Amino acid sequence: MADYRTYKNALQNERLPAAVVDLDLLEKNAQDILKRAGDMRIRIASKSVRCRRVLEHLFKCSPRFQGLMTFTAEETLHLAQQGLDDFLLGYPTTDRVSVEALLKLNKKITFMVDSKEQIQFLASCGSSVRVCLDIDMSTPFPGLWFGVRRSPLRTLQDVQQLISDLPSQVQIKGLMGYEAQIAGLGNRGVLGPIIRFLQRRSHADYARRRGEIVAWLKQHHTLDVVNGGGTGSLEWSSQDPGVDEVTVGSGFYSPALFDHYVNFHHAPAAFFAVALVRQPAPGMWTALGGGYTASGEINVNKRPLPYLPAGIRLVEQEGCGEVQTPFTYRGPEKLTLGDPVFFRHAKAGELCERFNEVLLLKNGKILERVPTYRGEGKSFL
Ligand SMILES: Cc1ncc(COP(=O)(O)O)c(C=O)c1O
Repeated sequence: MADYRTYKNALQNERLPAAVVDLDLLEKNAQDILKRAGDMRIRIASKSVRCRRVLEHLFKCSPRFQGLMTFTAEETLHLAQQGLDDFLLGYPTTDRVSVEALLKLNKKITFMVDSKEQIQFLASCGSSVRVCLDIDMSTPFPGLWFGVRRSPLRTLQDVQQLISDLPSQVQIKGLMGYEAQIAGLGNRGVLGPIIRFLQRRSHADYARRRGEIVAWLKQHHTLDVVNGGGTGSLEWSSQDPGVDEVTVGSGFYSPALFDHYVNFHHAPAAFFAVALVRQPAPGMWTALGGGYTASGEINVNKRPLPYLPAGIRLVEQEGCGEVQTPFTYRGPEKLTLGDPVFFRHAKAGELCERFNEVLLLKNGKILERVPTYRGEGKSFL
């Protein structure tokens, strides 16, 4: 299991900073995720992994991991050219060059749409285009819009209107309803009971809407993807009417934001090491690097979380710096200059945008070093 000495020894000859994935913990998370999802097939969200070799490793862990949810058309093209297949591009695109190139490949690729303009665009890119309708799963409560504003499609009528005059090049092959307010919203802590109450109420709303739309669409189209969920919602999404596959990404690395759920706990499989370069005062150290703040609304949870050795604490006025990260430590480890200290990113895949390679550990030793997307010369978003 994770401990400071093991990771420190593993990295003793490495140049720091370095990104690390502990394969033993990654595989454990994969098994726990499979259990949480019942018998559903699981599509892997590539945005939350951003390392091709790790994606390939996950597919080897179980035949129930099937297909990728990708995040840009260019990324999808890159993965398709590297031999991967079965893509659900999870977000709309306007990248004509990549879409036209994708449509020339003999691969299963489904594009996300929620408007007539997007459908027209795809129809102009090729003669046979598979699309998936993105249904908005957020719920308005008085004074609070609960969930993310993703799509204008909320009701069966919205869907019927959208696809009433479909161009002949376009086939409806899927429906996705991503319930971010369950899948990506931690429900522990002081606000936990309120969040969990809203989640239950919202679930009743969106599960009914999604079920109704799926049932109608299936009478008129041959759907082969009805996708829902994310790491935080597996237990719910896998039970919902009509859903036949769930998406998971973040749960494999299990970054800091995924510590805040009551119904599951995955192991911190991905983290980064920075080196101690000076000591401004007794009990206080400074590491070089570390300022890898996550995207989204701005709050303190978006900064890296001090991880190992247990007991390191950020200095509140400074946080994780662009070049230097000071921290305090009064624990039992004898720290010296050059030693690594470990932090966890708040989000999963964004860590890989900061590093060219990831060190893969097995049994506490470096097994392999593999390129991230960035290390392959690819930075998609
Ligand atoms: C459409 C969609 N599905 C699923 C997910 C879940 O991914 P994760 O498991 O990384 O939270 C996301 C994440 O943002 C998403 O945008």
